[in-house]
Amino acid sequence: MNNVEIIMRECKEIMSSLDKDESHNWEHSLRVRDLCLKISHGLCVCTDTIKVISYLHDIGRTKARGVYGNKGHAQISYEMATKILKRVYVPQKELILCVVRKHSELNNDNDNLCLKVFKDADRLDHMGAIGIYRIVHATTNHENFLSELNDAMKCFEALRMPIAISIGKPRYKFLVDFKKRFLKEGYF
Ligand SMILES: [Fe+2]
Ligand SMILES: [Fe+2]
Repeated sequence: MNNVEIIMRECKEIMSSLDKDESHNWEHSLRVRDLCLKISHGLCVCTDTIKVISYLHDIGRTKARGVYGNKGHAQISYEMATKILKRVYVPQKELILCVVRKHSELNNDNDNLCLKVFKDADRLDHMGAIGIYRIVHATTNHENFLSELNDAMKCFEALRMPIAISIGKPRYKFLVDFKKRFLKEGYF
């Protein structure tokens, strides 16, 4: 087993053993990894680096509520990732930690290529059929659901990489059509 696989196994254990969050579970990390690989195809982004970022980026979600106070999940993921990368060597450690810490921030013109790819991949997983599934698991009433649905639609406008935009178009259209139908069929 190489070091990337060791990190993958460790992150899977962390995300599977603590509180279950269907909207940010281990499969989310795997989908984001695969989207990152598609978006970065042909670009100067190291495959192993983007894989490690995908595995680490949401491990703090499991501790984001409770003992860690008001810290956001990205900061907690960053702190946990720092400890893991002290034990397990992978190249581009600084870049990995930077993307993990900043992955949930709004777009910034100074975002490096790796961060742009990653933010787009993470946003794409909020859209389409899988986006609806995740929103259902993250919300408890229709107002909340509609608000999260609107946020998911806003993800499309925030995409920056050309391949991400082409993957996002049908997912965005699906959300728009779903919302129309949801409002038509419901008593809201
Ligand atoms: Fe996140
Ligand atoms: Fe995520």
